Amino acid sequence: MHKFLKYAWFKGRCIPFEQASVSIATHALHYGTGAFGGMRAIPDPGNNKSFLLFRVDQHIKRLCQSAKLLLTDLSESEVYNSLVKMIKINKPTSPIYIRPFVYTSDLGIAPRLHNIETDYFIYAIELGDYLSPEGVTCRISSWTRQEDNSLPLRGKISGAYITSSLAKTEAALSGFDEALLLNKRGKVSEASGMNLFIVRNGELITPGVDEDILEGITRASVIELARQSGIKVIERSVDKTELFISDEVFLTGTAAKITPIKQIESTKLNVNRPIMDQLRKKLTSITEGREPLFEKWITRVDITD
Ligand SMILES: Cc1ncc(COP(=O)(O)O)c(C=O)c1O
Repeated sequence: MHKFLKYAWFKGRCIPFEQASVSIATHALHYGTGAFGGMRAIPDPGNNKSFLLFRVDQHIKRLCQSAKLLLTDLSESEVYNSLVKMIKINKPTSPIYIRPFVYTSDLGIAPRLHNIETDYFIYAIELGDYLSPEGVTCRISSWTRQEDNSLPLRGKISGAYITSSLAKTEAALSGFDEALLLNKRGKVSEASGMNLFIVRNGELITPGVDEDILEGITRASVIELARQSGIKVIERSVDKTELFISDEVFLTGTAAKITPIKQIESTKLNVNRPIMDQLRKKLTSITEGREPLFEKWITRVDITD
């Protein structure tokens, strides 16, 4: 059961979460014409007065880009200010996952994006591990990742998550934890809500941004961290068979953080993952505000005022 934070940002102010609800005729509910974000924030281990947000600028930027793809103007500073107000009023005490959502809020029918009222809200839940940090089993989905010509994949468009939902459920019902989706060209794209990395011969490889992936913020962070540590990173097409013979395979995402894959279909993968371990340790330390060189990725919100 999700534990929702007491207050949500809704129609321009903070109100109790239970009162933040929309009509059954809400346009986005029917047509998937919304876009969301997902960011993590944790209590500052070094200061109980502050809360740490990871790469909030990038998350808000992507949300506003998603809004733009839905032909909606959303101001980055406005979203940031509402987010900070919502955190301050809730005064959370454990790690949270923040969900902003921009959507066609008009009532009525006819799929469209013009001449329609839009709005955004933000709520948060307490969230620990989304996937087991020990590792997950994956199946290769029978569902194909959508392509950018049918759906704007650079946004986190709510309607797009029907494919993720079908793939995740197909995996779960057949006894796996997660699904890996191939794109229309048959190349590896990503998981239901995470990007994918493989390690071969000491090189870190991940499908490029032209492989119908969501441009993940954790993915970009991992690429930057790896390069800074002297690990060679290659963004290129990944074939299905590479998954089975890679030295390491792992997933990245805000919810999943860095999660190793221990089995794909019936193939067991290596349990020694030195590169993933190194990157995960570093990323954890950054998100906990313990890396002065990466302070730029952290926003500290004072929750005492
Ligand atoms: C489909 C999909 N791919 C990848 C990701 C990972 O993106 P990020 O690292 O920005 O959370 C997510 C999660 O937001 C996602 O929903």
